[in-house]
Amino acid sequence: STMQIYNTVASYRAWRNSLPATSTVGVVPTMGALHAGHLSLARAAAASNTHVVVTIFLNPAQFSPTEDLASYPKTMDKDLAALEALNASLPSSVAGRVTAVFAPTVSEMYPAGIPLVRDEQVGTFVEVVPLSAKLEGGTRPHFFRGVATVCTKLFNITRPNQVYFGQKDVQQTVILRRLLRDLHFDITLTVVPTERESDGLAMSSRNVYLSGKRREIAIVLYRGLKRAEELYNNGEGRADLILQAAREVIEREGEGMVKLDYVSLNEPELLNEVETVEKGRGVILSAAMWVLPTAEGEGTVRLIDNLILQ
Ligand code: PAJ
Repeated sequence: STMQIYNTVASYRAWRNSLPATSTVGVVPTMGALHAGHLSLARAAAASNTHVVVTIFLNPAQFSPTEDLASYPKTMDKDLAALEALNASLPSSVAGRVTAVFAPTVSEMYPAGIPLVRDEQVGTFVEVVPLSAKLEGGTRPHFFRGVATVCTKLFNITRPNQVYFGQKDVQQTVILRRLLRDLHFDITLTVVPTERESDGLAMSSRNVYLSGKRREIAIVLYRGLKRAEELYNNGEGRADLILQAAREVIEREGEGMVKLDYVSLNEPELLNEVETVEKGRGVILSAAMWVLPTAEGEGTVRLIDNLILQ
């Protein structure tokens, strides 16, 4: 195979510097535990670059001490096999292939320590204000500075022409678009549609935490959003009524097994909440909920999803 794995910044850079100036590099940042959603980003990258670089790095800086860093699925061998299989499946009319995987260790990425989470530490972080405090940032206050910081580092290391992010994490795409613009990164960002399971549940590395009844009930998040979208498509423009429709579905069909965090309607640049949804603005309808434990040994699982109201 022609796919190379680089675990150090120096070895990756040596390869990157060896590429002819005519090549283009599309980078797909991930935390591993790859599923069809990640692969669709790589497929999109292969369609418009000569080289696709997938980064696999479970970034501790974006997890709070109470979150699931320790239990987050780690499936490196499977991930590499999935990328090889993707390469093999691409038609010859698609020029690009996944030619490099950048999979650094924590100390390679943070040789001087992580300047985040613990306030006594020293160093640099990147924060896109006030976008990082909204929506997901309400419940996860340090999350987006962890994401923005690691993505800045990954962009500086991998030197992409283009980067690919999933619609699934819509706030992340809004924040990174703003970061690229504010810091004059010469990189285009493409947002790839959300890949879903057959029942509509958005694919997520965290779905492996869900089984049986909890997996079934997880679908209420998407159903709530779809109900709200339907109301909007039938002519309702008032945000409070659209949001109420989603809330009702999630709470009623959640049968006490889920706890809603938020459902929100926000404009797509500054993420300000809207009172009315106007056609053609691409207003973001997003929601987050927790699936509660039902048995000993089960943890609470946080799920997010969103739709764009056109
Ligand atoms: P991770 O959760 O591994 O996701 C990597 C990329 O895959 C993100 O751009 C995410 O939006 C996309 N993705 C996840 N599920 C998807 C789905 N069902 N359909 C389409 N795309 C999907 O997001 C992160 O990692 C991290 O925050 C990262 C950007 C790598 C920084 O650490």
